[in-house]
Amino acid sequence: MAKIITVDEALSLIKTGDHIVAGMAASEGRAFFMRLHEVAQRVEQVTIDNCLPLYPYEFIVNEAYADVFTVNSWFFSGDLRKAFKNKNIAFIPNQLHFAGQKRSAFKKPNVFVGVASMPDKHGFVSLSLSNVYEKHMMEQADTVILEINPNMPRTHGDLEVHQERVDYFIEVDYAAPELPDSEPNEKDTKIGAFIAERIHDGDTIQLGIGGIPNAVALALMNKKDLGVHTEMLTTGFMKLFKKGVVTNRKKSLHRGKMVAAFALGTRELYDFIDDNPAVMLLDGNYVNDPMVIGQNDNQVSINTTIEVDLTGQCCSESIGTMQFSGTGGQTDTATGAQRAKNGRSFIALYSTAMVRNPKTNEREPISKIVATLKPGAAVSLSRNDVDMIVTEYGVAELKGTSIKERVERLIAIAHPDFRESLTEEAKAIGYI
Ligand code: COA
Repeated sequence: MAKIITVDEALSLIKTGDHIVAGMAASEGRAFFMRLHEVAQRVEQVTIDNCLPLYPYEFIVNEAYADVFTVNSWFFSGDLRKAFKNKNIAFIPNQLHFAGQKRSAFKKPNVFVGVASMPDKHGFVSLSLSNVYEKHMMEQADTVILEINPNMPRTHGDLEVHQERVDYFIEVDYAAPELPDSEPNEKDTKIGAFIAERIHDGDTIQLGIGGIPNAVALALMNKKDLGVHTEMLTTGFMKLFKKGVVTNRKKSLHRGKMVAAFALGTRELYDFIDDNPAVMLLDGNYVNDPMVIGQNDNQVSINTTIEVDLTGQCCSESIGTMQFSGTGGQTDTATGAQRAKNGRSFIALYSTAMVRNPKTNEREPISKIVATLKPGAAVSLSRNDVDMIVTEYGVAELKGTSIKERVERLIAIAHPDFRESLTEEAKAIGYI
């Protein structure tokens, strides 16, 4: 049976050479990681693997600890981006559904630290807000520490774990981490409307991370009988369910259930998924497997990107060589949706980004549709797998098209100020 310990006692278990895996995002074990840097006096070479960490932990942001801790991440957050200069931080390229398996095959973790709801009368806790790789890593680790928290929703799916499989619990009471909803702007609304025109009653939806997917959720408020099969369960999906738009009645896989691998949103979302049999958080290795996604008839995936080249290659995770976020489930969901009967995949982006010009130090618009990606840009979604690209100027249907046809379609949805220069560049490269 799991033993209840304090954070001090948990820290005393950490030794030189340990390889710790943290739960993802809101499931990261904040009380433990807030104080992990305190062991720096007595240990060396401790490795931490994490995914979208939500807090500026000292072991990440404070350069003074860079000699002791190596931090590897499947998905960068703002704090990891800022701390990247510390040289002890590295990105792990991955498709999210394989993250746990591939990493543990390379290097077995020996400690797992995550979060859970309080144990029920049968001795089970729920892993609450993430089931992406946590259960797999718990099975690999020699020591499993879970922070049990009454503020964490008790979610259903396959993330219930009996306390016999846990070594230590730490009792905590902090608020569950939230991701506030952003208000859609004019561009978001236009993009949302273009996508909504191509979504039909009865479709099953995946929405990715970022501002645009929130706006898409709002644009779907007049649809009927939508289903949800998504990696990330957002506040937008909750709103669609409460409005009666999401019913999951027409799903061909897990009919009647909203399926996701993790949840991140507002407290209202957490209250909604708490003990709600309509929501299943299933193992990310299953949820995001393109072969599984493809079993949902009418599956639609909607994700965003940083830069698209004129052949359709999407860089969704880096700005040149600078790691910005991660591939996450973008390829999983885009390719999975296209396997489905009547499946579709959208990559949505603003036509321009405001970027600081190093010469003038002013922010200026640049085109996000480019002739060639910036040197070092990571191709998150291959041009072989791209389907539809959407900006506030329209939709470019790329599936099955030649490079020449793509160039024409992508320039048509670029910002008008950049269409001429893109055409010139495409000619110079020899695309048209
Ligand atoms: N060149 C340079 N900078 C760019 C750029 C470009 N082409 N495009 C965007 N940027 C900058 C923006 O200016 C902004 O900078 P700022 O914060 O200083 O204003 C920053 O990058 C982020 O852009 P934004 O459009 O606000 O991003 P977002 O928060 O909506 O997130 C992604 C967009 C692509 C990073 C995010 O969706 C992602 O990580 N996707 C990959 C993973 C994924 O899709 N998973 C799906 C399943 S969950």
